[in-house]
Amino acid sequence: MRIDVVTLFPEMFAALEHSIVGRARRDGHLDLRAVQLRDFAINRYGQVDDYAYGGEPGMVLRPEPLRDALKSIDYPEGTPVVHMTPQGRTFDQPMAEEFAKFDRLVLVCGHYKGLDERIVQKYVTHEVSIGDFVLTGGELAAMAIVDAVIRLKPGVLGDLGSAETDSFSTRRLGWPLYTRPEVFEGLAVPETLKGGNHALIEAWRRREALKRTLERRPDLLEKWPLTPEELRLLEKDC
Ligand code: ADE
Repeated sequence: MRIDVVTLFPEMFAALEHSIVGRARRDGHLDLRAVQLRDFAINRYGQVDDYAYGGEPGMVLRPEPLRDALKSIDYPEGTPVVHMTPQGRTFDQPMAEEFAKFDRLVLVCGHYKGLDERIVQKYVTHEVSIGDFVLTGGELAAMAIVDAVIRLKPGVLGDLGSAETDSFSTRRLGWPLYTRPEVFEGLAVPETLKGGNHALIEAWRRREALKRTLERRPDLLEKWPLTPEELRLLEKDC
């Protein structure tokens, strides 16, 4: 998958040279290219922003550098062009799965107050937020999207575990995890997990995951209601 990111801070994406995403890049699963917006400045002073019409504090990114940066990328028709903004739709696992179906993705990072609206109208296909908080720029949001999308591509996670058992892939939170030692500061690993009965272990995990989801994220159950099988699992616990 090739992902082009339009940004004023390409150096920030060095964070994606590490760990699993770093390996995906070295193995050729991910071709990540940061496009320096300043290379498309409107003058020799490197200007890319300007005052907001109507008068308000903060600068707005001018449309011409953004258009020229996007044109330089030469992406095929149908490629998602995603603007990172707190006003966008909240990013979630189904959206990551949707983006992972594409071979190309273009991410546009805003800075200062934001982008001129005409760029959004003419070039942007999706506006995405990573949560109800305001970052100083779209870069951290873009990195979150690159990470969440690329790990869904076949071969990226390898033996580290399949993305299918993740929290949110199952539309539920994950279950509690334990490793050695068997007792830590007086707390023991649950007996079921040590028993080797795989059917029992599976039922325990799904029940614990459901209990967590009910307690912490009831909104997920509204969006993706309990199945009859899940109801049975929960009843067994009472
Ligand atoms: N830019 C600033 N805040 C953001 C957020 N919450 N999500 C995506 N992009 C942003």
